[in-house]
Amino acid sequence: MIKVLVIYYSFSGQTRGLAQRLAVGLAESGASVVRAPIRPQVPHRFPIGSIPATVRKMLVTCFRQRVAIEPPPPDWRDDWDCIVLGGPTWSYNPSGPVLSLIDQYGEELFAGHTVLPLISCRGYWRAHWFGLRRLLRKVGAQVPTCIVFSHPVAEPWRTLGVFLKLAGRFPERSLQGRYPRYGHSRNQLAEAHRFGVMLGETLAAGGRIADLDFRTPIALP
Ligand SMILES: Cc1cc2nc3c(=O)[nH]c(=O)nc-3n(C[C@H](O)[C@H](O)[C@H](O)COP(=O)(O)O)c2cc1C
Repeated sequence: MIKVLVIYYSFSGQTRGLAQRLAVGLAESGASVVRAPIRPQVPHRFPIGSIPATVRKMLVTCFRQRVAIEPPPPDWRDDWDCIVLGGPTWSYNPSGPVLSLIDQYGEELFAGHTVLPLISCRGYWRAHWFGLRRLLRKVGAQVPTCIVFSHPVAEPWRTLGVFLKLAGRFPERSLQGRYPRYGHSRNQLAEAHRFGVMLGETLAAGGRIADLDFRTPIALP
């Protein structure tokens, strides 16, 4: 049986939703799936709550500030066919908890494994993807491609909306209909589920993950 570990960190619930739908799709394809949330030592509360605190968070995350995490439980160390590593983009970088996981446990968890990053972002993911791939390869992982989902709202409302949401405001109201909702759509969650089935079936058939098409107009509108 194909075995997949789905590790993820999620601050505002978006990566968690995608990772869960992906895991359900994988399980429906016949794979055995373990869901593995990364837990910060001090739990983060969403929203951040004020404009100055949000600006501060954006600044420190530019410099890839690490966030202390709980040690991964023993059942994360196994002989996986694939490890999905999910997390949000923070100021064009991987999030602090994902960076800490790779710094502290990257070699023991990922060396010799195929790792498939799952990125949730408002729209700017390329620097995150390139940086994450470099870090994962440095600890000995094979990184065939990545799955990216961006928020399906037009700019500049998407950027403004995310900032206001993080600061604890209500952009759905204050941006007067130009920002329908924060985060990923139902269609995108259904797409994550479809990606899970596709990934599981490909692994079971001995196919190449690098050949899968995850860059669809639903995932990246
Ligand atoms: C501190 C911070 C910085 C962010 N920086 C970016 C960014 O550079 N590019 C981007 O596309 N999204 C950025 N975002 C938005 C998140 O990536 C996006 O809302 C994502 O869906 C959140 O996923 P999560 O709920 O799993 O944490 C940022 C969010 C936070 C909290």
